[in-house]
Amino acid sequence: MLLLPNHDFLWGTATASFQAEGGNHNNWTIYDKDYSILRSKLAEKEIGQFESWSRFKDLATDPCNYISGGLADHFNRFREDFDLMQSINMNAYRFSIEWSRIQPNEGEWNDEAISRYREYLDELVSRGIEPILTLFHFTLPIWFVEKGGFEKRANIEYFVSFAKRIAQELNFGKDVKYVITINEPEVYAFETYLGNRWPNSVKKPLKMIAVLNNLCRAHNLVTDAIRQISSDCKLSIAKQPVFFSGTDNFTTRLTIKVAQYVQNDWVLDKVIQNCDFLGLNYYMSMAVDRFKISKSCLIGVSDLDWGMCPSDIQFVLERMSEKYSLPIMITENGIADADDVSRKLWLSHTIDSMRQAVDNGVELLGYVHWSLIDNFEWAYGKWPRFGLIEVNYETGERKLRESAIWFGDIIGDLQMK
Ligand code: BGC
Repeated sequence: MLLLPNHDFLWGTATASFQAEGGNHNNWTIYDKDYSILRSKLAEKEIGQFESWSRFKDLATDPCNYISGGLADHFNRFREDFDLMQSINMNAYRFSIEWSRIQPNEGEWNDEAISRYREYLDELVSRGIEPILTLFHFTLPIWFVEKGGFEKRANIEYFVSFAKRIAQELNFGKDVKYVITINEPEVYAFETYLGNRWPNSVKKPLKMIAVLNNLCRAHNLVTDAIRQISSDCKLSIAKQPVFFSGTDNFTTRLTIKVAQYVQNDWVLDKVIQNCDFLGLNYYMSMAVDRFKISKSCLIGVSDLDWGMCPSDIQFVLERMSEKYSLPIMITENGIADADDVSRKLWLSHTIDSMRQAVDNGVELLGYVHWSLIDNFEWAYGKWPRFGLIEVNYETGERKLRESAIWFGDIIGDLQMK
């Protein structure tokens, strides 16, 4: 196993409020009943061809799978989860603040929720775990969506005021050094305005573009506002680059260029001047053959049928570092692997490839694994299992997966060197 040279290197895990906390009330949960029935009926058509179908069929066709409900109850049991996180030597943790808890109604601030997140943060700080805080990870307060959400440029000010309040209450710059303003803007815009798998989705491509532009504006305005509160905060969005590769011919090269621009660069180019580092979520690669783009599977597929090419993280890191000349943090990376059969291999390829990228000059601040704990995987519901911690949703029992213990030992060894 190769070493990463930097002793301050952050080794962490991530969650997002709605996916782990349980008990949320936001723009996803209001659709629960009809949505869950619809998703369970569509399961066979949408995922019946996955290699994992026979293993997950019963869960995927059960409407309960699509209702988030209590989940792992991380909102109340976070200390237990932090204990487990510490036991595997993690020194960083990425999480999001649920806006709908902080402002359940327009103009109303929920002091109890603010104090709970304060406790949550204090618990991390007292354990010496570096917090990486996300302000918007796909879910929104109902009132904000009813006002037109990010479709309206004038609504951005509500998000800025939420961000400011959180920055003050949670002591940005002192207690929180790394902030992700918006997680994967394109995924949110695509799934809400072009895809048909999220509960509140509509097919309105022009709106999708308008929303993307507004999300870029929102990042730029929020970073200005946070910098007025503290200049010691490091800010970025979390961007999900895909690695494209193919045989060397003119058409393939052209397709790769266009795909890279649309998927990887278009949004980043609009916000990069307001990023102090680059947060990257790497999950997958694509193989390009002339005009055809298909999934690339170097070491097989995950439970979600995503091609697994963990070592391509090196090329993603090198390209993004060369293009944007910023330090990079891997803010998400992982696989759906309920039986824990591929996670070790994924991680070991990833660690080796990050090391190669660092040797080739990439300034890498840290690696954050998705996810700390099994959680709600959006349109797929609860059956995909991304957690280093396995959760029994019936009893709430947590258990470190074997790969998590192995990963923790590796981190421990690296930290000792
Ligand atoms: C998102 C997470 C999601 C993960 C796995 C990322 O795109 O930020 O919320 O669970 O991918 O799909």
